[in-house]
Parts: sequence; C-alpha cells; structure tokens
Amino acid sequence: MAKTRILRFPTGFLWGTATSSHQYEGDNTNNQWYRWEQQGRIRTGEVSGKAANWWERAEEDFARAEQMGHNALRLSLEWSRIEPAEGRRDAAAIDRYRAMLADLRQRGLKPIVTLHHFTEPLWFADRGGFENEENVRFFVRYVSHAVENLRDLCDFWVTINEPNVYVSEGYVVGAYPPGKSDLRSARRVLHNLMQAHVEAFCAIRRLQPAAWIGYCQDYRLFDPALPFSPLDRALSWLYETGFTWSPLQLVERGRFAFPLALLMPPISRAGGARDYHGINYYTREMLGFSVTSHTEGFIRRFPHPASVYHDGRANPNDVEEIYPEGIYRVVKAIHRRTRGNKPLYITENGVRDAADSRRPQALLEHLVWLHRAISEGVPVRGYLHWTLLDDFEWMDGWHTHLGLCAMDRATGQRTPRPSALLLAEISRANAITADMVERYSPRLMERIF
Ligand code: FCB
Repeated sequence: MAKTRILRFPTGFLWGTATSSHQYEGDNTNNQWYRWEQQGRIRTGEVSGKAANWWERAEEDFARAEQMGHNALRLSLEWSRIEPAEGRRDAAAIDRYRAMLADLRQRGLKPIVTLHHFTEPLWFADRGGFENEENVRFFVRYVSHAVENLRDLCDFWVTINEPNVYVSEGYVVGAYPPGKSDLRSARRVLHNLMQAHVEAFCAIRRLQPAAWIGYCQDYRLFDPALPFSPLDRALSWLYETGFTWSPLQLVERGRFAFPLALLMPPISRAGGARDYHGINYYTREMLGFSVTSHTEGFIRRFPHPASVYHDGRANPNDVEEIYPEGIYRVVKAIHRRTRGNKPLYITENGVRDAADSRRPQALLEHLVWLHRAISEGVPVRGYLHWTLLDDFEWMDGWHTHLGLCAMDRATGQRTPRPSALLLAEISRANAITADMVERYSPRLMERIF
C-alpha cells in the first residue's frame, strides 16, 4: 500500500447507505414477504410491522443521513404499492415516492433507486412470479410506469437486487418465499430474472437515455479449506462460478459461464446490458470435502477459523466471517473479468453487530482495501453501507443489527452508533486519515502509513 498520510477517494465519490422498501417503510401488507411473515415463517416468528415507518417519516432519517455528510442514499420502490392489483395503479404511492426523492435531492443526497428488492405483489407471486416466463412483461410494465413518473427525480436505477440470493434462498434453500427446494425451478427463475433485468434495462434506456442502469449482486467468495487439495479447489471454483461469476458473465457476453451454460440457454440482448457493476459484498466461505458431512452431500462450508465473525443471526449456526480483504479481491476480479469496461459501486456492505464493537474497525478496513483497489486503477465510484438503521432483516427478523444507528422499536428512537460517526468523518473528508486508522485499526497503520 502507498506510504502516504492520507488516503483520498476520487472527487465526486458517492457516500451513503442502502435500504429497501419492505425493510423500512412499514405496513407493506400486499407482498409475498408479508404473507410469509403471517405464516410464521420468519425464524424469530417476528413480522416487519411498522418497520422504520418510512411511509410516514422517511424524511426525518434523510435529514439524519444529510447530517452525517452523506451525498447518496439507496432505497427501493415497493411494486405492491405502485400496482396493488394487476393493472391497477395507485397514484398516491407514486406521489409519496416523488416526495421522498425530491426531499433527498433537496438535501444533496443522490437517490439510487432499486426497482425490485426481494418483494413483489401478491397477485404477481400468485401467478407464479418469475418462475413463469410470461410474467416478465408485468415487471417491465411496472418498471416503465415507475420510470416514466420518476425520471425527473432519479437517474440511477438498480433493476433487481441480488438475483443470485433471491434464487438460492427462495428456490434452492427454501428459506425465502416461495420456500422451494427445486433445482429446475431455480434454473428457470434465474433465467427469467436475468431476462427481466435485460428487458427492464432496454425499457429504461428508451425512456431515459442518459440514465445509469444496472443491477446488483451478492459477490461472495468461496475459498478451499485446504488450499493444496485439488478437490477442495475444484469445489470452491464450482460454487464461486455458479453463485458469483455466472450472472456477471451473462451480462458481458450474453451467456452464462461454464458449467451453468450447459443448463441455461443464452439470453438475447444481455451482452452489455448494464452501465455499472453494483456490488454487494459481505463475506467469504471456506469449502471442503468431508466424509463426515454426508447429510450435506459431503461438503463442509464454514467461516475461516482464524477470523472475526459477524454477530447475532437468528440461527446461531449462521456464522459469517468479517473479511475486509475480500472487498479488494471482489472488485479486482470484476474489473479483470470484464476487462475494466464499467465503473463499480459498492451498493451494500455491512456488519451484524449490535454492540458496534467490531463495525468501526471493519468499516475502516473495508474502505482501506477498497482504496487500495482504486489506487491500482479500479474505477470504484461509490460506497453505500448496509444500512442506516437497524431494520427488518428478512429471515432474521429484528434479531440482527446492521444499522449505523440503533433503532428502539418500542419508541422509534434512533441512536447513532460510533460507526455512524466514523462514516460521517470519512465521507466529509472524502478520505481516510492516519488518525482514523490509528484510532480504529492500529494493525493496519504499519502497512499503510
Ligand atoms: C442482502 C440484502 C439486504 C440486507 C443484507 C443484510 O442480501 O440485499 O436487503 O438484508 O443482505
């Protein structure tokens, strides 16, 4: 790393947080996650309920983000509000989003708007959702409607959040709705989702030629348990290619990467259908063959034994490593694999940590590694932390705490954690100083300064 006293980020770098409609708005009672909650399918038995009550009070938190020196905020539109029944549009929902986006802009926060963040209207889910190719047109129709009505307030769109997580959790693991474990369905849904992205990309491009359009994906690393074992290496390669790199390649070349290419037909017009890479990065997993893991197909997945962990999943076995160097590896790999053809944005990165005892150091170290990639020529243009407040975390309910600010659910009171202050310092300076590193990560001092 460069021996300098300050690590400066490029001019115009975007700093902020990422959020999503269902996890923040409250009273979203017309989508498939609401039904999932009502069926008692959340591990903690909890429901999203009023969430952070953004439908009524988002502006108060936008003011908070502004005070923290941010200049961007990612949120998502709730399709089930905009089109509560098939073909029936709710103008009041569009008005509410217009007010939210206008408020963000007026505060100097660039809105980054996701069109599909895991939730979809019940009527759409009941028609088979993305398992049914016929349904892609409904998504594109909704996207066109939203963009037509909001394009004067937003020019940065994320079509779909984490297609790889939506498919693996909903159609392989079965933890997210519709709770299936069926590889044929999973294949179909991944294909149709990526098709939906491409169609939405083309529709937005027509409606708003200057818009910035992409999707974001969970970029997870898989490393071999025994680095010299050919079996473990093959296994990690297979997982990483399937989960992490296949969709990346699809949107470069119009076809999925081997071996998925053997199972999935190419998608027309997919090649080049993005203006940037949206990167959600959280962790890596170690993978190895193990004769004792017969119930898991002789595969052992585990966090690196010498690492520090995220804390507080509803299921204590869901232990995840905090691995800051991974963000560097991911952005470098994307840049290399796509021959550096598009800018990159970190659209999510965060830490589960109610006490905020690990987050400040983790936040700083992720950013130091990100800076290293930038200084080596990778055009990263923004960093959005997941997330602004403690929120409804899908299967973990309210049990896990990813917020820069704690939120008391009974009173609604927000309290900034130390990491909120740290990110504010960094975004105001558009830089990391030696003093920050000394305070939060002495172990990196030697290496950087
Ligand atoms: C990602 C989701 C986001 C949030 C984080 C912790 O997979 O996109 O909504 O739940 O994980």
